[in-house]
Amino acid sequence: MDILEQVKAYLKETKEFTTDKLDEVEAFRIKFLSKKSGTLVDLFKQFKNIEAKHKKEYGQLLNELKDSVSDKVEFLKQKLTQEKDTNQKIDLSLPYSGVETGSRHPVSLVRDEIIDIFLRLGYNISEGPEIEDDEHVFGRLNFPLNHPARDMQDTFFIEKNPDILLRTHTSSVQVRVMDNAKPPIRTISPGRVFRNEAISARAHCIFHQIEGLYIDENVSFADLKHSLLYFAKEMFDESAQIRLRPSYFPFTEPSAEVDVSCLLCNTKGCNVCKHTGWLEILGCGMVDPNVLESNGIDSNKYSGFAFGMGLERIAMLKYGINDLRHFFENDLRFLRQFK
Ligand code: PHE
Repeated sequence: MDILEQVKAYLKETKEFTTDKLDEVEAFRIKFLSKKSGTLVDLFKQFKNIEAKHKKEYGQLLNELKDSVSDKVEFLKQKLTQEKDTNQKIDLSLPYSGVETGSRHPVSLVRDEIIDIFLRLGYNISEGPEIEDDEHVFGRLNFPLNHPARDMQDTFFIEKNPDILLRTHTSSVQVRVMDNAKPPIRTISPGRVFRNEAISARAHCIFHQIEGLYIDENVSFADLKHSLLYFAKEMFDESAQIRLRPSYFPFTEPSAEVDVSCLLCNTKGCNVCKHTGWLEILGCGMVDPNVLESNGIDSNKYSGFAFGMGLERIAMLKYGINDLRHFFENDLRFLRQFK
């Protein structure tokens, strides 16, 4: 073969050369570039025998071959040591697996749905700090000084005297609303609350609430009851019914606990409602005149109602979740079910 053709063949061989073994790269380098016996040394020696009119082309081809061999050796060495480092190869021929989008947390879903319902009833949304003082969480809500809810059992205190604490309910936000607004007031306060409770399937030291406050002239218990019935029908089912049981809260009088008819058995009784036909969803009542007065609202002119609910509890009922801890563990198998 003509020697020029031979060099072109070497060039082609170099371009096509590939391997996944470092010692083969080294052998390739020695074959071409070795100072003693390398192909290139031989080829350069032949230079004097080349016909004058081909000398220029031959020289250029040899330089090209030398560069191309060095480049290839460098390239393969780098590639193979990198692969060794990360111990993985990128397979560009693999099919595209798609981007997985996230999903809303069930507590967020329930919160947004509840907010929507009360926005339709003309409520606005209010928010406030999670770190509070005694006055906003208890004092101005008619908690007697010796009330057990102020006890270390339930409240996380940050400082004592004056007391700084983590709010145990978002009623504290409504105290702040009453500071800044005159009636009529119609507001809901979503947010995180904290209680010093042992973590179990039914209790957690952190959970979420939405509390509502409605103050105007002539607000009656019937208004409260109807608003909550509307809420239950919108939230659960058109056929939902509610029932009110007398209860006690320091800031409301009279007070009630509200049950919704069991979604599964429709009050006939089943495992979910523990054969009572009803599920407890929230606490409520008429704002105690003491609360209105200690927040600068004339209790002879105005009356109001308040209610509060735990979002995890509503989500448990709505989605049939049986353990409160699921909400806080961020297990993807749980969260993916809410896409
Ligand atoms: N603040 C009460 C709680 O945290 C709920 C509630 C709000 C009850 C308003 C009655 C009226 O449990």
